Amino acid sequence: MNIGVFDSGIGGLTVLEEVIRLLPGYDYIFYGDSANNPYGEKSDERLMEITSDIVEWFRQRDCRLIIIACNTATTRCRKELMKKYPELVFIGTVPAVKLACDKGYKNILIMSTPATNESERLNELITQNRREGQNLYPVACYGLADAIENDVPQAVEIILDSLKEQYGEKNIDCVVLGCTHYPFIREDIEKRFPNAAVIDGSNGVARETRRQLKLLDCYPPESEETSLEVHFTKK
Ligand code: DGL
Repeated sequence: MNIGVFDSGIGGLTVLEEVIRLLPGYDYIFYGDSANNPYGEKSDERLMEITSDIVEWFRQRDCRLIIIACNTATTRCRKELMKKYPELVFIGTVPAVKLACDKGYKNILIMSTPATNESERLNELITQNRREGQNLYPVACYGLADAIENDVPQAVEIILDSLKEQYGEKNIDCVVLGCTHYPFIREDIEKRFPNAAVIDGSNGVARETRRQLKLLDCYPPESEETSLEVHFTKK
């Protein structure tokens, strides 16, 4: 069995790295869908078409476990994909709101794509985990994943400066990276919010993957060797 990992481009590599760190000895196939980036500004219908095609692609390569290394595809499509492909296991990536709330931060900025920001799932995560005295600020970062994917640092700077202008006075002590592209600009974010812990959900995804592998009776791995195939679609 192979493990499929996908995202709308390079973002998913930040998740893949943590998964392989925790779970070496498996055969991974990474699919970076740069051709369709950004996912975060597409309709649910279009996202279902795109992600279903990727799932079919993985199915032909004997992937029974698929890691959706993308908050947008998880929050908008995971439920539907699980219904459509009940024989597969889908592990999702969601903004680490639970971790931020459990750690007791007071003023939490949740950065994500517009589609994740507007999702029912993010709303649930906020209402289920927020405690008294905690302020949560979800913000849709238009164009940011796109600027990271296409390596446009000037656009990244403009977007982050405007975030700082909007939230700089709110004593932000935690920034949740609710898009898997954002860890690539972690330092730029830390510069704007120097008193904040900047967190992402990769470790949670890796731990959930291990739990699912145990359920499938595939843990620990049979070999010590890790293999990785990487595919990117081009614009
Ligand atoms: N990396 C993705 C996420 O975690 C999506 C970025 C995009 O394509 O908009 O949300």
